[in-house]
Amino acid sequence: MRKPIIAGNWKMNLTLKDAVAFAEEVKGTVPASSKVDAAVCAPSVFLAHLTEATAGTDLKIGAQNMYDQESGAFTGEISPVMLKELGVTYVVLGHSERREYFGETDAFINSKTKKAFEHGIVPIVCVGETLEEREGGKFESVIREQTTNSLKGLTVDQVKNLVVAYEPVWAIGTGKSATEQDAQDSCKFVRDVIAAEFGTEAAEAVRIQYGGSVKPDNIKEYMAQPDIDGALVGGASLETGSFLKLLEAI
Ligand code: 13P
Repeated sequence: MRKPIIAGNWKMNLTLKDAVAFAEEVKGTVPASSKVDAAVCAPSVFLAHLTEATAGTDLKIGAQNMYDQESGAFTGEISPVMLKELGVTYVVLGHSERREYFGETDAFINSKTKKAFEHGIVPIVCVGETLEEREGGKFESVIREQTTNSLKGLTVDQVKNLVVAYEPVWAIGTGKSATEQDAQDSCKFVRDVIAAEFGTEAAEAVRIQYGGSVKPDNIKEYMAQPDIDGALVGGASLETGSFLKLLEAI
C-alpha cells in the first residue's frame, strides 16, 4: 500500500511571519505520519525557521528548488547540502513554472534529482503537459519524455522512494481542475512509463500526486482513484484551514 502524500507548494507567497504562524498552528494538528505524509514546500528563506518550528512533528518541510552541485561559485543558488543541514525532507524539482520561466530542462532536472537522493532529500519531480500539447494530441509523448528523461539513471530503490507530481499546466492556478478520470488516466500513464523503464516493483511503489486546482471540495474524488497517491497543492495550501481540510479528507 502506498501512503498518501499531501504537499503544499507555497510558491513565492506569504511572509516569514505568516509562514511561521502557519507552521505553529498546523504542526500539532496534522494527522499522524503513519496515515499520511504532510508537507509544505516553502520559499528557501523561510526554511530554517520552518524546520526549527516543526522539528519532531508530523509536518515536514520541503524546498521548492535546489542546484545540482554541493558548493562552489554559483551565485544565488542553494545546494542540497544546505537543505539537508536545515532538516528539509523534500524538494520540488522541475515544476512547470521553473520549466517555463527559468528554462529548466529534463537533463537539469535529472541531475538535480540524483543529487537530492545523494543527500537524502526526497525529490518531488513534476511533469505535465500544456493545453496546446494536450489539444494537439501530444500529451502522451510529452509526459513520456519528461518522465523518462527526468528519472534517467535512477536506481530501482530510488524510484521506489521518489514522488512524481503530475500537474497539467492548464490546471495550475486556473481553477480549471482536471476531471478525476483524466487525472487518474494521466497518473496511470506515468506509472506505466515508470514500469517500462524500471520494472513493475518500482512502478507499484512510486507515489504519484495529482496537482492543479486541488481544493478541499475536490480532493476526495482524486484520492479515490487507484493511481493517485496524493496531491501537490498551490493556492489551497496557503491557509491553515484549507490545508488541514485537505489532510482530513484522506
Ligand atoms: P494550484 O493548486 O494553485 O492550482 O497550484 C498547483 C501547483 O502548481 C502545485 O505545485
